[in-house]
Amino acid sequence: MTTARGILARLRDGDRLTEAELFWFAEGLASGEVTDSQAGAFAMAVCTRGLGPEGRVMLTTAMRESGDVLKWDLDGPVLDKHSTGGVGDSVSLLLAPALAACGAYVPMISGRGLGHTGGTLDKLEAIPGYRTQVSVEDLQEIVADIGCAIVGASADIAPADRRLYAVRDVTGTVESIDLITASILSKKLAAGLEALVLDVKVGTGAFMAAPADALALAEALVKTAQGAGCMTSALVTDMNQPLGRTAGNAVEVMEVMEALTGGDPASDLMRVTVALGGEVLALGGLAADAADGEGRIRRALDSGQAAEVFGEMVAELGGPVDFVERWRDRLPAAKVMVDIHPGDAGTVAAIDARALGEAVVQLGGGRLRQEDRVDPAVGLSDIARIGQKVDPKTPLLRIHAASEEAARAVAAAVRNAFTLGSGEVEAPPLIHERIG
Ligand code: URA
Repeated sequence: MTTARGILARLRDGDRLTEAELFWFAEGLASGEVTDSQAGAFAMAVCTRGLGPEGRVMLTTAMRESGDVLKWDLDGPVLDKHSTGGVGDSVSLLLAPALAACGAYVPMISGRGLGHTGGTLDKLEAIPGYRTQVSVEDLQEIVADIGCAIVGASADIAPADRRLYAVRDVTGTVESIDLITASILSKKLAAGLEALVLDVKVGTGAFMAAPADALALAEALVKTAQGAGCMTSALVTDMNQPLGRTAGNAVEVMEVMEALTGGDPASDLMRVTVALGGEVLALGGLAADAADGEGRIRRALDSGQAAEVFGEMVAELGGPVDFVERWRDRLPAAKVMVDIHPGDAGTVAAIDARALGEAVVQLGGGRLRQEDRVDPAVGLSDIARIGQKVDPKTPLLRIHAASEEAARAVAAAVRNAFTLGSGEVEAPPLIHERIG
């Protein structure tokens, strides 16, 4: 007879678990048959012993199958992208409607901010009325009608992961490549995707600061997703500075709306969006190759088609019907704005992106405890980039805060996040590697 105790003993001894055992355990997590202490022991044993590449695929599939798995009958491919998390990274908001404008269907199940990184759902909730929690039926209907919907995971999507993630959070077992891979992919693949592109971040603002760790995660994610039957590739992209010029919730939505309505096509935010979009359009058969896909995404962004889809998605999910025309009036603004200047003139040589993400959390734009309420209006904007010349009259960034006191509390930390050098400084490469 299969028991949690038996499975845990085999894991403890370094044995490889069978598919039947991992399915039994995932089902037990979802049903409550597996207790919290058994879930904690499982997470710790996986952290220390590892599952191996085949075990990763089996755990991912088992957790995906622990809840609803969406089925589609559409006239285009079902595609998505996932980022491992960064600062000032609002690619999802640009890419989902751009892919839809290119003929794809994008059921983008997204998350909230984690640690110092921003969350797509928190950003969208800065739009008054936007509902991030919808039923699986509503999600399918909106995606079929409009082409994309960005929403949170319902309780019926990968419930085994919901349970295991909460236990990992309090047992020091978040940082396991096996568990991160199964957690991310079980939720993504439950959306019934045909192809997926992953944006694995590396640098000071990423969970994986070291290139070797980011590469290992990218390889595990790609091989596991492919092993679970989804065409997948990954780009390892730079997070040694915020991706965009803003970090926060409403401020990032403002940057997205500027990009969708005629923003700078050469910005790093646009370049990463286009590169990821090109990859997944090619995987999904909507482009001859990644370069052709990039051209299609650029045209969807430049022509205003992506903006139109974004507006339809916002309206369908309860936001203002005139958001694309009136976003400046619709988004909340912070009470206090303070520019932060450097003490000396120089060139921005390095940025501690994690420190900037932590400042956003401290301002109230993220959570210190799960139950904290996020202030959508606070954050950072006009963030200087590596290689940019600054001086005591040219700000490093602008703080958007709820009070003078809150702005003062983060001022030193955000100033110290910038290292100035002299002469010309080259920015790090934006796309480090492609895996797949
Ligand atoms: N995001 C997830 O969904 N799961 C993890 O384990 C880490 C990041």
